[in-house]
Amino acid sequence: MAPSLLAADFGRLREQVALVEEGGADLLHLDVMDGHFVPNISYGPGLIEHLRPHTKLFFDTHLMIEEPKRYAEVFANAGSDLITFHAEVTESPEDVIEHIHSLGVSAGISINPTTPVSAIERVLPDLELVLVMSIWPGFGGQAFMPEVLAKVEKLRGMLRPDQRLEIDGGINQNTIAQAVAAGVDTLVAGSAVFGKADPVEAMSDLRALAEASLTSEGRTPS
Ligand code: DX5
Ligand code: ZN
Repeated sequence: MAPSLLAADFGRLREQVALVEEGGADLLHLDVMDGHFVPNISYGPGLIEHLRPHTKLFFDTHLMIEEPKRYAEVFANAGSDLITFHAEVTESPEDVIEHIHSLGVSAGISINPTTPVSAIERVLPDLELVLVMSIWPGFGGQAFMPEVLAKVEKLRGMLRPDQRLEIDGGINQNTIAQAVAAGVDTLVAGSAVFGKADPVEAMSDLRALAEASLTSEGRTPS
């Protein structure tokens, strides 16, 4: 479970992070938007740096920005454990991945709903995480796009067990089981966690649904 801070109350960030840590989050998903690659601006490395001392959670930074290579270093220095960039912004993803690794952090790549798996196929062995967008990036609270699940199924068959397969957008109580059944192991959820009155309870409800879906498939929850 990777709750997305984008849907949190930005005036109470420390408390909100503590809530999802208590709720059993495995990663904290941090959405960075530059107003160019996506039509919205969220937050930057300063916020991540100031949260870092207050939680032990793994920082899963999702860069929705046009120049990931230029900015990866400040996000690594701010305390990101993994940096994901978008395949759509570069012709040479291997350079960006190599640069992220040279900073001592893990690397992920993300594909938008209409970007095919073939666009990232050649770099798959070099990655720690692949992120399939199940909405158009830019805003939380959008409806899940089930048509991306065919890409999830394909990627599951191409990735090693040590590589994470993450999905992001519209994950909630109604959609989580189908995402897990398609093969994702890492689930981003913003409004389905922070938009609820009790984020701790929301986390445990989502986890229970994900585990039930895994068990019905004969896979083991981890
Ligand atoms: C959108 C972000 C998502 C967003 C998901 O561009 O990448 O991580 O926070 O929000 P929900 O879970 O509300 O769809
Ligand atoms: Zn995201």
